[in-house]
Amino acid sequence: MGYERKEIARTPGYKQGKQPTDAGVVKLNTNENPFPPCRAVIEALHDIDPESLRRYPPPFADAFREVAAGIHGLRPENVMAVNGGDELLRLAITTFVDPGRTIGIIEPSYLLYRVLGELHGGRVVGVEAASDWLLPRDFAAMMNREKAQLTIIVNPHAPSGVLTSDVALAELATRLEGVLLLDEAYADFVDPSRGYNALKLIDRCDNLLVLRSLSKGYSLAGLRFGYGLGAQGLIEPMLTKTRDSYNVDAVAQKLALTALKNRDSARETWKKVREERGRLRAALIDLGMLVPESESNFLLAQIKPGAVSARRVYQELENRRIFVRYFDHPRLRDHLRISIGTVEQNDRLIEELKEILKG
Ligand SMILES: Cc1ncc(COP(=O)(O)O)c(C=O)c1O
Repeated sequence: MGYERKEIARTPGYKQGKQPTDAGVVKLNTNENPFPPCRAVIEALHDIDPESLRRYPPPFADAFREVAAGIHGLRPENVMAVNGGDELLRLAITTFVDPGRTIGIIEPSYLLYRVLGELHGGRVVGVEAASDWLLPRDFAAMMNREKAQLTIIVNPHAPSGVLTSDVALAELATRLEGVLLLDEAYADFVDPSRGYNALKLIDRCDNLLVLRSLSKGYSLAGLRFGYGLGAQGLIEPMLTKTRDSYNVDAVAQKLALTALKNRDSARETWKKVREERGRLRAALIDLGMLVPESESNFLLAQIKPGAVSARRVYQELENRRIFVRYFDHPRLRDHLRISIGTVEQNDRLIEELKEILKG
């Protein structure tokens, strides 16, 4: 027996995807943006004033909050900066859920929701996603019956990439009695022609908290920066009480601000990812896989029964230094989640898959 609390001892913890660093690896396993951060961000990094390291950073990241609010048509009071979207998940659980009370999630989705909920001592209720990966039927009623103080969903859904409409989200937020945390870590990659905009709901749903991340859309996974958007009543307790007093460092604040101000550069990467997403999906379907339409920067490919198993394909790809993600989950055992890479990376993946699937 160790000294840790029983909830900590019980949970296996979160297992990150592999992070190989050898040259020549094609890394399509943790949904990073395959393109570099924009030039202005790299210049800002070279320009860091050592004085900003000697002093504490701006405690509330106000400059960032102001720019983010302007971009999303909200007020700075509706925004808080966090040390990666993951921090917002932890803050929301700490702030809105009494230990022992219910956190509702959809499964499968981001594995960290359950891990953080259980570490907190919450009762995590997982409801299976519908067969088309959309919201389960009567989800709001189920959550209300369970007296969920917090419900967490991800849109576009991970790991399928399927997009739930903002109309369905409005209905969910309105019907839920607790807080709805809408994880939009991948929302930057949604095709603008879908007309999706859940942020407009913030004005009328005081229980809606939205998570945004700079990890994927802005090619800044190494920086650890994200933000939360919501009614002031949701943001304020996290901003003034539950978070660490200097939760985002000076370098991260400066680079995140630069990234948002230069959003057009990031937007070009979103477009390239969307183009490659369409091309890769078509190629995987040609190889006999079932691949739902994704609005994210990854695809979920189901390998046909009778063909080489998904686990074997995953292993074979890894032997050839191509990393994708395999989840040992009942609904995902015949699937691979594949992040969208550059044209060259995707071409290499397709060529290797052709070989492997020959058996
Ligand atoms: C669904 C989902 N939500 C949130 C995050 C957290 O992103 P970050 O902490 O890098 O901002 C991730 C990261 O992979 C994710 O996949």
